[in-house]
Amino acid sequence: MRLNGKVALVTGAASGIGLATTRRFIDEGARVLASDLKVDGLEASECLRPFRLDVAQEEQWVAAIDTALGAFGRLDILVNNAGIGTPGPLVELSLADWRKVMAVNLDGVFLGIKHAVPAMERTGGGSIVNIASMLGHVATVNASAYCASKGGVSLLTKAAALEMAAAGGRIRVNSVHPGFIETPLLGSRLDADPERRALITGRTPLGRLGTAEDVAAAVLYLASDEAAFTTGSALVLDGGYTAQ
Ligand code: NAI
Repeated sequence: MRLNGKVALVTGAASGIGLATTRRFIDEGARVLASDLKVDGLEASECLRPFRLDVAQEEQWVAAIDTALGAFGRLDILVNNAGIGTPGPLVELSLADWRKVMAVNLDGVFLGIKHAVPAMERTGGGSIVNIASMLGHVATVNASAYCASKGGVSLLTKAAALEMAAAGGRIRVNSVHPGFIETPLLGSRLDADPERRALITGRTPLGRLGTAEDVAAAVLYLASDEAAFTTGSALVLDGGYTAQ
Protein backbone atom coordinates (compact mmCIF):
# COMPACT_ATOMS: atom_id res chain seq x y z
CA MET A 1 0.00 0.00 0.00
CA ARG A 2 2.63 2.48 -1.11
CA LEU A 3 0.04 5.12 -2.08
CA ASN A 4 -2.34 4.69 0.81
CA GLY A 5 -4.71 7.67 1.11
CA LYS A 6 -3.36 9.41 -1.97
CA VAL A 7 -5.43 10.76 -4.85
CA ALA A 8 -4.10 10.62 -8.41
CA LEU A 9 -5.16 11.97 -11.79
CA VAL A 10 -3.94 9.84 -14.70
CA THR A 11 -4.35 10.96 -18.33
CA GLY A 12 -4.66 8.50 -21.19
CA ALA A 13 -5.87 6.01 -18.60
CA ALA A 14 -8.04 3.86 -20.87
CA SER A 15 -5.17 2.02 -22.55
CA GLY A 16 -1.59 0.78 -22.30
CA ILE A 17 0.72 2.48 -19.80
CA GLY A 18 -2.03 4.72 -18.39
CA LEU A 19 -4.31 1.76 -17.70
CA ALA A 20 -1.52 -0.30 -16.10
CA THR A 21 -0.56 2.71 -13.95
CA THR A 22 -4.17 3.27 -12.87
CA ARG A 23 -4.52 -0.41 -11.87
CA ARG A 24 -1.20 -0.43 -10.00
CA PHE A 25 -2.04 2.81 -8.17
CA ILE A 26 -5.38 1.36 -7.01
CA ASP A 27 -3.64 -1.85 -5.86
CA GLU A 28 -1.31 0.36 -3.82
CA GLY A 29 -4.17 2.15 -2.04
CA ALA A 30 -4.72 5.25 -4.20
CA ARG A 31 -7.98 6.67 -5.50
CA VAL A 32 -7.73 7.64 -9.17
CA LEU A 33 -9.47 10.05 -11.49
CA ALA A 34 -8.88 8.00 -14.63
CA SER A 35 -9.17 10.28 -17.64
CA ASP A 36 -9.07 9.75 -21.39
CA LEU A 37 -10.80 10.84 -24.61
CA LYS A 38 -13.18 7.89 -24.21
CA VAL A 39 -13.75 6.32 -20.82
CA ASP A 40 -16.47 3.72 -21.64
CA GLY A 41 -14.05 0.86 -20.86
CA LEU A 42 -13.15 2.17 -17.40
CA GLU A 43 -15.41 0.80 -14.68
CA ALA A 44 -16.28 3.24 -11.91
CA SER A 45 -15.68 2.12 -8.33
CA GLU A 46 -14.97 3.61 -4.91
CA CYS A 47 -11.35 4.01 -6.00
CA LEU A 48 -11.80 4.83 -9.68
CA ARG A 49 -13.70 7.70 -11.19
CA PRO A 50 -13.66 7.76 -15.01
CA PHE A 51 -13.52 11.26 -16.47
CA ARG A 52 -13.49 12.47 -20.07
CA LEU A 53 -10.49 14.76 -20.61
CA ASP A 54 -8.84 15.89 -23.83
CA VAL A 55 -5.49 17.04 -22.46
CA ALA A 56 -5.10 19.65 -25.20
CA GLN A 57 -8.18 21.58 -23.99
CA GLU A 58 -7.50 23.93 -21.09
CA GLU A 59 -11.10 24.26 -19.91
CA GLN A 60 -11.33 20.47 -19.64
CA TRP A 61 -8.31 20.48 -17.31
CA VAL A 62 -10.07 22.96 -15.04
CA ALA A 63 -13.09 20.65 -14.92
CA ALA A 64 -10.92 17.57 -14.30
CA ILE A 65 -9.11 19.10 -11.33
CA ASP A 66 -12.43 20.33 -9.89
CA THR A 67 -13.88 16.84 -10.31
CA ALA A 68 -10.90 15.19 -8.57
CA LEU A 69 -11.18 17.61 -5.65
CA GLY A 70 -14.96 17.20 -5.52
CA ALA A 71 -14.87 13.40 -5.66
CA PHE A 72 -11.86 12.73 -3.44
CA GLY A 73 -11.13 15.99 -1.58
CA ARG A 74 -7.49 16.34 -2.62
CA LEU A 75 -4.93 15.82 -5.36
CA ASP A 76 -1.52 14.30 -4.60
CA ILE A 77 -0.34 12.79 -7.88
CA LEU A 78 -0.61 13.75 -11.55
CA VAL A 79 0.54 11.35 -14.27
CA ASN A 80 0.74 13.14 -17.63
CA ASN A 81 0.63 10.02 -19.78
CA ALA A 82 -1.62 10.75 -22.79
CA GLY A 83 0.41 10.79 -25.97
CA ILE A 84 0.22 10.27 -29.72
CA GLY A 85 2.61 9.91 -32.65
CA THR A 86 2.43 10.65 -36.35
CA PRO A 87 4.93 8.53 -38.27
CA GLY A 88 6.37 9.73 -41.56
CA PRO A 89 9.14 11.80 -43.12
CA LEU A 90 9.52 15.36 -41.81
CA VAL A 91 9.14 16.98 -45.23
CA GLU A 92 5.81 15.22 -45.75
CA LEU A 93 4.42 16.15 -42.32
CA SER A 94 1.61 18.71 -42.44
CA LEU A 95 1.68 21.65 -40.06
CA ALA A 96 -1.69 20.47 -38.75
CA ASP A 97 -0.28 17.04 -37.85
CA TRP A 98 2.82 18.59 -36.25
CA ARG A 99 0.59 20.86 -34.16
CA LYS A 100 -1.67 17.98 -33.16
CA VAL A 101 1.27 16.03 -31.73
CA MET A 102 2.54 19.12 -29.92
CA ALA A 103 -0.95 19.91 -28.59
CA VAL A 104 -1.39 16.48 -27.00
CA ASN A 105 2.18 15.57 -26.03
CA LEU A 106 3.53 18.96 -24.94
CA ASP A 107 0.65 21.43 -24.41
CA GLY A 108 -1.15 18.66 -22.52
CA VAL A 109 1.73 18.26 -20.06
CA PHE A 110 2.08 22.03 -19.63
CA LEU A 111 -1.65 22.43 -18.94
CA GLY A 112 -1.67 19.49 -16.54
CA ILE A 113 1.17 20.91 -14.46
CA LYS A 114 -0.27 24.42 -14.56
CA HIS A 115 -3.68 23.38 -13.24
CA ALA A 116 -2.64 20.59 -10.86
CA VAL A 117 -0.06 22.59 -8.92
CA PRO A 118 -2.48 24.98 -7.16
CA ALA A 119 -4.70 22.02 -6.20
CA MET A 120 -1.71 20.06 -4.82
CA GLU A 121 -0.48 23.07 -2.88
CA ARG A 122 -3.81 23.30 -1.06
CA THR A 123 -3.25 19.92 0.60
CA GLY A 124 0.47 20.09 1.24
CA GLY A 125 2.17 19.09 -2.01
CA GLY A 126 2.45 16.22 -4.43
CA SER A 127 4.26 14.43 -7.21
CA ILE A 128 3.96 14.94 -10.98
CA VAL A 129 5.20 12.23 -13.33
CA ASN A 130 5.42 13.01 -17.05
CA ILE A 131 5.63 10.14 -19.50
CA ALA A 132 8.20 11.19 -22.08
CA SER A 133 10.09 8.57 -24.13
CA MET A 134 13.61 7.40 -24.85
CA LEU A 135 12.86 9.40 -28.01
CA GLY A 136 13.05 12.47 -25.80
CA HIS A 137 16.77 11.72 -25.38
CA VAL A 138 17.72 10.23 -28.75
CA ALA A 139 16.03 10.57 -32.13
CA THR A 140 14.88 8.12 -34.77
CA VAL A 141 13.84 8.51 -38.42
CA ASN A 142 10.24 9.35 -39.37
CA ALA A 143 9.22 10.55 -35.90
CA SER A 144 10.28 14.21 -35.88
CA ALA A 145 7.20 15.68 -34.22
CA TYR A 146 7.10 12.90 -31.64
CA CYS A 147 10.83 13.25 -30.81
CA ALA A 148 10.58 17.05 -30.58
CA SER A 149 7.53 16.84 -28.32
CA LYS A 150 9.14 14.30 -26.00
CA GLY A 151 12.39 16.28 -25.85
CA GLY A 152 10.18 19.19 -24.84
CA VAL A 153 8.55 17.13 -22.09
CA SER A 154 12.01 16.24 -20.80
CA LEU A 155 13.11 19.85 -20.30
CA LEU A 156 9.66 21.10 -19.29
CA THR A 157 9.92 18.55 -16.47
CA LYS A 158 13.26 19.92 -15.30
CA ALA A 159 12.10 23.54 -15.58
CA ALA A 160 8.94 22.80 -13.58
CA ALA A 161 10.94 20.82 -10.99
CA LEU A 162 13.22 23.79 -10.38
CA GLU A 163 10.30 26.19 -10.02
CA MET A 164 8.53 23.87 -7.60
CA ALA A 165 11.72 23.42 -5.59
CA ALA A 166 12.20 27.20 -5.40
CA ALA A 167 8.58 27.54 -4.27
CA GLY A 168 9.18 25.39 -1.19
CA GLY A 169 9.84 21.90 -2.54
CA ARG A 170 6.42 20.47 -1.72
CA ILE A 171 5.84 19.33 -5.31
CA ARG A 172 8.27 17.05 -7.17
CA VAL A 173 8.29 16.73 -10.97
CA ASN A 174 10.00 13.88 -12.82
CA SER A 175 9.86 12.24 -16.22
CA VAL A 176 9.85 8.60 -17.29
CA HIS A 177 11.43 7.61 -20.62
CA PRO A 178 10.19 4.25 -21.85
CA GLY A 179 11.82 2.47 -24.77
CA PHE A 180 9.80 0.00 -26.86
CA ILE A 181 6.77 -1.00 -24.79
CA GLU A 182 4.18 -3.58 -25.87
CA THR A 183 1.01 -1.43 -25.79
CA PRO A 184 -1.74 -0.78 -28.38
CA LEU A 185 0.25 2.30 -29.57
CA LEU A 186 3.22 0.19 -30.68
CA GLY A 187 2.02 -3.42 -30.56
CA SER A 188 -0.48 -3.05 -33.41
CA ARG A 189 2.24 -1.57 -35.65
CA LEU A 190 4.67 -4.36 -34.82
CA ASP A 191 2.03 -7.06 -35.30
CA ALA A 192 1.76 -5.84 -38.89
CA ASP A 193 5.56 -5.84 -39.28
CA PRO A 194 7.13 -8.95 -37.69
CA GLU A 195 10.55 -8.12 -39.17
CA ARG A 196 10.61 -4.80 -37.31
CA ARG A 197 9.54 -6.55 -34.12
CA ALA A 198 12.45 -8.99 -34.48
CA LEU A 199 14.85 -6.12 -35.23
CA ILE A 200 13.81 -4.14 -32.15
CA THR A 201 13.95 -7.19 -29.90
CA GLY A 202 17.37 -8.11 -31.28
CA ARG A 203 18.73 -4.62 -30.68
CA THR A 204 17.43 -4.42 -27.12
CA PRO A 205 20.12 -5.69 -24.72
CA LEU A 206 17.52 -7.28 -22.41
CA GLY A 207 16.14 -9.15 -25.45
CA ARG A 208 12.46 -8.23 -25.12
CA LEU A 209 10.01 -5.36 -25.39
CA GLY A 210 8.94 -3.71 -22.15
CA THR A 211 5.48 -4.14 -20.65
CA ALA A 212 3.07 -1.47 -19.49
CA GLU A 213 3.53 -2.94 -16.00
CA ASP A 214 7.31 -2.30 -16.20
CA VAL A 215 6.54 1.37 -16.76
CA ALA A 216 3.80 1.49 -14.11
CA ALA A 217 6.32 0.26 -11.51
CA ALA A 218 8.64 3.17 -12.30
CA VAL A 219 5.77 5.67 -12.23
CA LEU A 220 4.68 4.24 -8.87
CA TYR A 221 8.16 4.79 -7.40
CA LEU A 222 8.32 8.42 -8.56
CA ALA A 223 4.75 9.09 -7.43
CA SER A 224 5.33 7.65 -3.96
CA ASP A 225 7.02 9.22 -0.93
CA GLU A 226 9.92 6.79 -1.45
CA ALA A 227 11.14 9.21 -4.12
CA ALA A 228 11.07 12.15 -1.68
CA PHE A 229 14.56 13.36 -2.72
CA THR A 230 14.01 12.88 -6.46
CA THR A 231 12.94 15.81 -8.59
CA GLY A 232 13.89 16.97 -12.10
CA SER A 233 15.05 13.46 -12.93
CA ALA A 234 14.58 11.48 -16.15
CA LEU A 235 14.19 7.76 -15.51
CA VAL A 236 14.96 5.64 -18.60
CA LEU A 237 13.26 2.23 -18.99
CA ASP A 238 14.44 0.84 -22.29
CA GLY A 239 15.99 -2.56 -21.64
CA GLY A 240 19.40 -0.97 -22.20
CA TYR A 241 18.60 0.26 -25.73
CA THR A 242 20.13 3.73 -25.34
CA ALA A 243 23.07 2.50 -23.24
CA GLN A 244 24.76 1.20 -26.41
P1 NAI B 1 -1.83 3.95 -25.95
O1 NAI B 1 -2.17 4.42 -27.32
O2 NAI B 1 -2.05 2.53 -25.57
O3 NAI B 1 -2.57 4.87 -24.88
C1 NAI B 1 -2.56 6.27 -25.00
C2 NAI B 1 -3.89 6.78 -24.48
O4 NAI B 1 -3.86 8.21 -24.59
C3 NAI B 1 -5.09 6.29 -25.29
O5 NAI B 1 -6.05 5.70 -24.43
C4 NAI B 1 -5.63 7.54 -25.96
O6 NAI B 1 -7.03 7.56 -26.09
C5 NAI B 1 -5.14 8.62 -25.00
N1 NAI B 1 -5.11 9.92 -25.65
C6 NAI B 1 -4.69 10.23 -26.91
N2 NAI B 1 -4.89 11.53 -27.15
C7 NAI B 1 -5.44 12.06 -26.01
C8 NAI B 1 -5.88 13.36 -25.65
N3 NAI B 1 -5.82 14.40 -26.50
N4 NAI B 1 -6.37 13.53 -24.39
C9 NAI B 1 -6.45 12.50 -23.55
N5 NAI B 1 -6.09 11.24 -23.84
C10 NAI B 1 -5.59 11.04 -25.07
O7 NAI B 1 -0.30 4.37 -25.76
P2 NAI B 1 0.82 3.96 -24.69
O8 NAI B 1 1.84 3.19 -25.39
O9 NAI B 1 0.24 3.45 -23.44
O10 NAI B 1 1.46 5.41 -24.46
C11 NAI B 1 1.31 6.13 -23.28
C12 NAI B 1 2.42 7.17 -23.20
O11 NAI B 1 3.69 6.50 -23.21
C13 NAI B 1 2.44 8.13 -24.39
O12 NAI B 1 2.77 9.43 -23.93
C14 NAI B 1 3.55 7.57 -25.26
O13 NAI B 1 4.14 8.56 -26.06
C15 NAI B 1 4.51 7.06 -24.20
N6 NAI B 1 5.46 6.07 -24.68
C16 NAI B 1 5.05 4.87 -25.20
C17 NAI B 1 5.98 3.96 -25.67
C18 NAI B 1 5.60 2.65 -26.26
O14 NAI B 1 6.50 1.96 -26.78
N7 NAI B 1 4.37 2.21 -26.19
C19 NAI B 1 7.41 4.26 -25.60
C20 NAI B 1 7.73 5.52 -25.02
C21 NAI B 1 6.77 6.39 -24.58
